[in-house]
Amino acid sequence: MREIFYWTNEHMPVLNYYKKQAQKEKFLKNKKIGVVLHLEKKTAMLVQALIEAGANVYCASCNPLTTDNKAAQYVKSLGAKVYAKEFETEKEYYEYLNEIAKKDLDAIIDDGADLIQLLHEKDYFDNKVYGACEETTTGILRAKKLESQNKLRFPVIAVNNAHSKRMFDNVYGTGESALLGFLNATNLTLSGKNVAVFGYGHCGKGLAKKLKGLGAKVFVVEVNHKDSFGYHGIHKALEAYFEGYFVIDSIEACRNADLIITATGNTKVVSKKHFDAMKSGVILANAGHFNVEIDLEFLERNSSSKKEITESITEYVYKNKKIYVLAHGRLVNLAKPHGQGHAIEIMDLSFSIQFLSLIYLIKNNQSLKNKVIPVPEEIDVNVAKKFLELHDCKIEELTEEQKDYLNF
Ligand code: NAI
Repeated sequence: MREIFYWTNEHMPVLNYYKKQAQKEKFLKNKKIGVVLHLEKKTAMLVQALIEAGANVYCASCNPLTTDNKAAQYVKSLGAKVYAKEFETEKEYYEYLNEIAKKDLDAIIDDGADLIQLLHEKDYFDNKVYGACEETTTGILRAKKLESQNKLRFPVIAVNNAHSKRMFDNVYGTGESALLGFLNATNLTLSGKNVAVFGYGHCGKGLAKKLKGLGAKVFVVEVNHKDSFGYHGIHKALEAYFEGYFVIDSIEACRNADLIITATGNTKVVSKKHFDAMKSGVILANAGHFNVEIDLEFLERNSSSKKEITESITEYVYKNKKIYVLAHGRLVNLAKPHGQGHAIEIMDLSFSIQFLSLIYLIKNNQSLKNKVIPVPEEIDVNVAKKFLELHDCKIEELTEEQKDYLNF
């Protein structure tokens, strides 16, 4: 079984570099770490790094459809306790999360903040978790909500917001892997298709860029509000315009679209008025964290028929139109059987940030406040530097005169 992971491991040199350091020092000796990530091959490499740094690891998935049984078996063989399986039901998903929450963990790595949220419920108030590292945009928004309500019980490191994560994982990772998910699930081409991308944030930008590269006509839908980084949707719409995409409202986008992909982190972005506007044969896919972006509850209630065409394609007949939904509205780039998740090199960056952030959290647990805190700049920059170095890239240093000229 180990051979299957050879390829993944070979392409994660940055994580391997930090793993070797941590193996010597055993930074995580006897620490109980909960890992609630998409339990697939790259995650298995992160779990291995944690175990080799001395941790006892408890794994669940952060999504019922994204566990790869081979990855689960592999981490089990290394000594991790696993509470996840391929195609688990929603009920099982929450049972597994509860199992992990009961383990008196020292720290957790979460993706989407379901475990963070659970650890804030009454049953788990006695748990003394040092803190969490959160992988994704949606999870950080949920942690920030707890913080703003003065309810956050432990520090949460915003791994997603590190430059070495969000500028690459969300953009290039999602852009490539979501389209691969579409191609593998449907065996259709993207070339020549009218594709509407809802949300031109980090993920949306990556999707639009890769769609354009594959010959699709790209329509961008944005919204008039400021995101948590202070960027306004208006400016994102302007950026999309200057990139050469059509920037149009959601109804017009739905009228034209052969494919609609959501990547907003928001709820009911595609709802009744959109279904009403769609043409027959349209395909809907979601790349945002939760399965709430497309209002599937409405479609379920109001369709005259529903047919599972394959494990990944569901056909709804709504007002005599055929509407196809991929991966049950869940992450199209990760949901099994077609989703493989982001490219390995991308996850090498993201999981190196996770690994170092977790060690930082454990080492500094006495001094960190119960807030959402950024990844230390040193970690963010070091990971990027190490990646460049290990990929034979070089970067200039400023001369003293240039520093002076730029007033640094
Ligand atoms: P972001 O905050 O950079 O972008 C979201 C964009 O959606 C913003 O520009 C916002 O203005 C726009 N938006 C919000 N509501 C909208 C609406 N009703 N209509 C149109 N646009 C709307 O967030 P990011 O990093 O791009 O993440 C988006 C989602 O994708 C999150 O749920 C995140 O957790 C998830 N994600 C998924 C990944 C994957 O592997 N599929 C990887 C990374 C993030």
